[in-house]
Amino acid sequence: MKALALGRVIPLVEVSVADPAKQSFHGYDVTTAESPLRDARSRPLRDLRISVTDRCNFRCIYCMPKEVFGKDYAFLPRHELLSFEEIERVARVFVGLGVEKIRLSGGEPLLRKDLEHLVARLATLRTPQGADVDLTLTTNGSLLSRKARALRDAGMKRITISLDAIDEAVFQRMNGVGFPAAVVLEGIDAALRVGLAPVKVNMVVKRGVNDTQILPMAAHFRGTGVEVRFIEFMDVGASNGWNMESVVPSSEVLDIINPSFPLIAIRRKNPSDTSVRYRYADGDGSIGVISSVTQPFCGGCTRLRLSSDGRLYTCLFASRGLDIRNPIRSGLSDESLRGLVADLWTKRADRYSEGRGENSVAHGQSKVEMSFIGG
Ligand code: GTP
Ligand code: 5AD
Ligand code: SF4
Ligand code: SF4
Repeated sequence: MKALALGRVIPLVEVSVADPAKQSFHGYDVTTAESPLRDARSRPLRDLRISVTDRCNFRCIYCMPKEVFGKDYAFLPRHELLSFEEIERVARVFVGLGVEKIRLSGGEPLLRKDLEHLVARLATLRTPQGADVDLTLTTNGSLLSRKARALRDAGMKRITISLDAIDEAVFQRMNGVGFPAAVVLEGIDAALRVGLAPVKVNMVVKRGVNDTQILPMAAHFRGTGVEVRFIEFMDVGASNGWNMESVVPSSEVLDIINPSFPLIAIRRKNPSDTSVRYRYADGDGSIGVISSVTQPFCGGCTRLRLSSDGRLYTCLFASRGLDIRNPIRSGLSDESLRGLVADLWTKRADRYSEGRGENSVAHGQSKVEMSFIGG
């Protein structure tokens, strides 16, 4: 029932642009997009994260706990999902507005039939400067052995796989459906084999559940070329029963790994990066830590999220999204779409993680689920 409630969200901002194509926002001409849009905190719009389905075959305890996402849970019906044509059109407009990176996510994106056809469409996009778009995907890896080649052939360059433990018992408890880690590991091998690069692995660390797996995960992937990123468990959505005691701060992760495998910090390349990276002193690769709770990175956040039913979310912790699907299906022009996006972005002031504890989500509104807008 919850999905329906979420589906009925109202726009985050009142959009009242008479002829958006003719307007300039903060001096930015929305019809000739050569420089990126900037939000109210001067952050450029650079990343679009597209959720292609709200469904997943896992029930990770920190994301889609099975007590909430049970068999009666109302997922979106097919006709509510954006089609590949619609996604491609929206993505093209965004790339014209300065987006340089597109990440496909879910739920589990590989559950969406023929996803490689969407990848092939998105791989043709070029920035106004003529560069390729950094096109990537976050997957739970369960279907990756079968799909890696098709994704690569369609133009996907790199990939990120979620894997929260090497140990079978820990992983199977964490994913909620008893899915074997061995199958995800085969998927990771397949990604490496077909030349998706770099391959990254995301591990959400939850105290008392998989924190014993920090060192085994580091040890397993050292020297393989795969970068493991240790992620602080976040208070996204309204279902995962988050509390601060369950968060393992990244400083603790580093203290666990460093004595066995000494680490050297790598300078952050890009202010919008989520992770802080470290290389092994012996040259055997690198890891990352993503400290959204203890060291928030809202200051450089250039990410906009598109849900599978066509709503734009300016923050992972938003409770409302701006519907663009219905306007598109009613004949909205590209120019008007650019206007809507420009209006939304230029008014954006979100910094949820930095203001955690300040009660930045209005009382009574529940935050959107991460499985609904992707990670
Ligand atoms: P790369 O481009 O490969 O560096 O990926 P990324 O780190 O930008 O994206 P990814 O989906 O791999 O993000 C990893 C994790 O970081 C997510 O699963 C979230 O836990 C967290 N994360 C990503 N984006 C945000 C964000 O905008 N806000 C917050 N608070 N956390 C985020
Ligand atoms: N905290 C941190 N990361 C999360 N993800 C999902 N839920 C959470 C959470 N509560 C991220 C994980 C996962 C991706 C799909 O979303 O990185 O790999
Ligand atoms: Fe599915 Fe990923 Fe959420 Fe796990 S974290 S339930 S794999 S969407
Ligand atoms: Fe961006 Fe919101 Fe995440 Fe901050 S909490 S980094 S503003 S998505």
